[in-house]
Amino acid sequence: MPDSIAPLDALRWHLDAGADEVIAETPTDWTQVTPVPSLRAPVRGLRAPTNPETPQPRAAKVPEPWQGGPAIAAPPPPLLGPAAIEGHARSAAAQAPSLEALAQTIAGFNDCPLKFTAMNLVFGDGNPDSGIMLIGEAPGEDEDRQGKPFVGASGKLLDLILTRVGLDRDRVYITNILPWRPPGNRSPTPAEVATCLPFVARHIELVNPKVLILLGGTAAKTILGRNEGITRIRGKWFDYTATGLGHTIPALPTYHPAYLLRSPLQKRDAWCDWLKFKAKFI
Ligand code: URA
Repeated sequence: MPDSIAPLDALRWHLDAGADEVIAETPTDWTQVTPVPSLRAPVRGLRAPTNPETPQPRAAKVPEPWQGGPAIAAPPPPLLGPAAIEGHARSAAAQAPSLEALAQTIAGFNDCPLKFTAMNLVFGDGNPDSGIMLIGEAPGEDEDRQGKPFVGASGKLLDLILTRVGLDRDRVYITNILPWRPPGNRSPTPAEVATCLPFVARHIELVNPKVLILLGGTAAKTILGRNEGITRIRGKWFDYTATGLGHTIPALPTYHPAYLLRSPLQKRDAWCDWLKFKAKFI
């Protein structure tokens, strides 16, 4: 980049180069960062001498932090296996007696690497006493920045839908399957979902809503424990068994607002789903 350049031109230059997202509060000169040795280079002397004739397996490419790889500042990955991490999350969640306590528990949970790439924890928003609980997939860029669910483009569409059924943000409660943004808005991995599921399950128990609306395939499949895609199960009523409450909660899967923004033709079906909900609960 040339030395003297107007700030706006410099910004444009970065955008054109693909740097369209802020990932930290302060700039980092990546050319000066010493790579984490265990991630990028074998420890000297630990490798057996290799025969140059033998084809060697290629070293796995570790994605850079800005490609969704481990952040330089993050602590080492957890030593626990997936089952132990899930068990850890389950026992931590079970001990939270209130929503505030659950938010604190999640904020202090270090076994989900997403915590270390996200800017903020996105716990929930709205009125937990409203009886209506909406569950989405995961925070996006705007939600991560503001620490609130559904405040970006899909949140605007959700607000519109809520208005049309006679509701607003103060008459529903909203959360997500994952409380941290996956880097670059990628889809959550099964391991991330499994790790965070005990927190969502406890979240539902503590809110104890009259009805659950599951926004999109990830929320629907995760909460209902089903394999079918959202197209097959949307608009049908299911019973969610809230183990800790000892009763079931009616749950309605529907399309995710972000999907409706990409596929507006599906808005008609989504509206039918919301009318089903309205007929029963409004
Ligand atoms: N998409 C989601 O699933 N949740 C949000 O909070 C925002 C976008």
